[in-house]
Amino acid sequence: MTYVATINPVLIHGALPVFVDTDPETFQMDATKIEAAITPRTKGIIPAHMGGSACDMDKIMAIARKHNLWVIEDGCEGVKSEWRKQKLNTIGSLGCFSFQASKNFTCGEGGALVINDMSLYERAVCFHTNGWMPGEPGAPVRMNGLNYRMTEFQGALLLSQLTRLEEQQRMRESNALYLSSQLSEIPGISPARMYEGCTRNNYYGYMVRYKKEAFGGVPREKFLRALGAEGVPIGAWEDALHKEPYLEHTLNSRMYKAIYSTKELVEYRERLHCPQNDRDVEEALWMPGRTLNGSRRRAEQIADAFRKIHDNIDELRKV
Ligand SMILES: Cc1ncc(COP(=O)(O)O)c(C=O)c1O
Repeated sequence: MTYVATINPVLIHGALPVFVDTDPETFQMDATKIEAAITPRTKGIIPAHMGGSACDMDKIMAIARKHNLWVIEDGCEGVKSEWRKQKLNTIGSLGCFSFQASKNFTCGEGGALVINDMSLYERAVCFHTNGWMPGEPGAPVRMNGLNYRMTEFQGALLLSQLTRLEEQQRMRESNALYLSSQLSEIPGISPARMYEGCTRNNYYGYMVRYKKEAFGGVPREKFLRALGAEGVPIGAWEDALHKEPYLEHTLNSRMYKAIYSTKELVEYRERLHCPQNDRDVEEALWMPGRTLNGSRRRAEQIADAFRKIHDNIDELRKV
């Protein structure tokens, strides 16, 4: 369960993204299922830290060490989030940030990599400057690459936001914890759990599970409309990348048919099963964390709206 940008770089390089099913309690990649997904051709693991919470990095790093795999953290949603007091994106071989408009730390578009291996760093710098190494005027182009340079203007915007990032984070964190304490008391509503190692969650997305059985069978969409009518900006969260038609289109492309045998592609398709994720896409809710950038009153109003709908569910069933 992640945004499509996690797998696009894999597909663009002609590789096959092997999906790992979701942990129902945290909505993160289920690290206990990673080893079963490893094949002799597996090169690395890409944990996507969803909603600003963290994947189980202890387990993931141990598996990576055991199988000699690299780890690229997709911490695009994880600015300021931590695993055992260490910032997300600094634990694996490489970490990715996004500064796109919806993010907690944004300059409209753009992003950054953090890398703790010098040779990998040089390759990334080269790649993002059209394959040419800055500081080597006249030297031959080192590799093929593209232009992913950020501008000074974007940098200035980001720097100016550093002044308020921590304050907003504290507000969101405190409101989210309060909201979770309130929502946990409502039958059928389960805020996403954090792993014990997640020492800081930036709550980029506030994630909740909705069990319609506890709400007289009211479908999630109807429940969401009722929450919307109460002024709560919350939506369904439905990422099921293993079922995206464009994945099948890619497998059918000339490039993929040239790289992989028909047998390999058939075997790959047979492994595209994430039954827990299939359940999650029916039940998961996502509220932009920025909704909680404000006073405690906001969190109270959101909790009140959930409670009101729960207490008046018979009315909602009739409409
Ligand atoms: C989990 C995740 N990965 C990757 C991205 C891609 O970032 P960008 O939009 O900056 O390319 C995003 C956000 O957009 C994201 O939420």
